[in-house]
Amino acid sequence: MNSAAADTTARTVQQTARPHGFPTPEHFEVVEHAVPEPAPGTALVENLYWSVDPYHREMMDDLPGAFDLHAPLEGRTIGRVIASRTPQFTEGELVFHRRGWRTHSVIAPGEARKLPHFDGVPLTTHLSLLGGTGLTAYVGLTRIARLQPGDDVFVSGAAGGVGTATARFARLLGAGRLIGSAGTAAKVRHLLTEVGYDAAFDYHDGPAAELLAAAAPDGIDLFVDNVGGEQLAAAVGALREFGRIVRIGTISQYNTPDALAPKLHYPDIVEKSLRMEGFLVSNHQDAQQELYDFAVPHLQSGRLTADETVVDGFEHLVSAFLGMLRGENTGKIVIRDHSEVPAGARGKQ
Ligand SMILES: NC(=O)c1ccc[n+]([C@@H]2O[C@H](COP(=O)([O-])OP(=O)(O)OC[C@H]3O[C@@H](n4cnc5c(N)ncnc54)[C@H](OP(=O)(O)O)[C@@H]3O)[C@@H](O)[C@H]2O)c1
Repeated sequence: MNSAAADTTARTVQQTARPHGFPTPEHFEVVEHAVPEPAPGTALVENLYWSVDPYHREMMDDLPGAFDLHAPLEGRTIGRVIASRTPQFTEGELVFHRRGWRTHSVIAPGEARKLPHFDGVPLTTHLSLLGGTGLTAYVGLTRIARLQPGDDVFVSGAAGGVGTATARFARLLGAGRLIGSAGTAAKVRHLLTEVGYDAAFDYHDGPAAELLAAAAPDGIDLFVDNVGGEQLAAAVGALREFGRIVRIGTISQYNTPDALAPKLHYPDIVEKSLRMEGFLVSNHQDAQQELYDFAVPHLQSGRLTADETVVDGFEHLVSAFLGMLRGENTGKIVIRDHSEVPAGARGKQ
C-alpha cells in the first residue's frame, strides 16, 4: 500500500459559487474529511488520475444538470480499488469511473468499469486517446463526418485534447490536408512539427475567414469544430460542395456569455449542400470497443502518439482546470497523483 492509500484523510473539491465569465479559484474549495468506508455492495477507490474538461465549465452554471454547490463534483477518473465489499470489484484492480474531483470514491457496480490492460500503453491514455476525449474525436470523424479518404479537414481547437486526437486519427483514416487553429504561435509550431498538421494558424492573428483562406486556399471538405463563433462562420465560407461540419464544442463562448456570436452565411448551407451535425459522446459509448480495436494497435506500433499535458498532484486540480480554460494545455490535460510519478521524474516539476 503506498503512502496515499495509507492516508486517513480524503479531499474533495467542491464548487462554492456560480461564475459569470471566467471562473477563479474562489469558486472552489477543497473539503477534507475521513476516508469513506465502503458500505456492503460497494468498493472504495483511491484515485490516481483525473480528467478536467471544458464541459465542467458548462456544469458550473445554473442550468439543468449543473454541479450542485457545496457537493462533490463529477469527472472521469482512474483509481485503484483499495477495499471491496462486492464480488464485482477486487482489491488492487484499476477502474474507470466518474466520481472524480476527489482523492477517494465509493463506487457501486454499474458506476465503474475495470480498465483493460494493453501492453505498452500508459494509463493516462485511458483519459486521452482511449478515453472520452479520443472517443469524441473518433465518433466525430467516423460516425458523424463519415470521413472519406482524401478529405481535407479543418480542426478548430486543434492543439487541445480532442483537436490533437482528431488530427492523429484523421491521418490514420486517410484524410487529405489537415489544417488546424490554436491560440499561440508555440501551439501552431507544435501542430506543424509534432501533431502532423499540414497548415495551421493562430486565431488571434486576424479575421478567421482570412486566416483560413490563406491556410486552405482550395477550401475544405470537413470542419471539426471545438470552438464555435467566428471560426465556424469562416468554415462555412471555406467548405466545398457537400462539405460537412461536425459540431463538437463551443469553448469560445463558455466564458463570455455576453459576447455576440458572429452570423453564419446561411445561403451557403443550401447552395453548397452542406451538412452540420452535433453530437454528445455520452450517446456513443457503444463505440468504445471499436475505438480500442482501431487505436490500440497503432499506439503499440508507435504510429499513434497521445498528446498530453500531465500535471502532478491532486492539489493542482483546480488550477489545472482553470489553466485549461485559458489554453495552458497542449493535448489532453490529465492530473496525476504523486504516487504515480515515475521515480526518475519526481521533484522535476
Ligand atoms: N460533444 C462532446 O461530447 C464533447 C466531448 C468532449 C469535448 N467536447 C468539446 O470539445 C472542445 C475541446 O475539448 P477538449 O477536452 O479537447 O479541451 P482542450 O481543447 O484540450 O482544452 C480547451 C482549449 O480551448 C481553447 N480555448 C479556450 N478559449 C478559447 C476561445 N475563446 N477560442 C478558441 N479556443 C479557446 C484553448 O486552446 P487555445 O490555446 O488554442 O485557445 C484550450 O486549450 C470543447 O469545446 C469541449 O466542450 C465535446
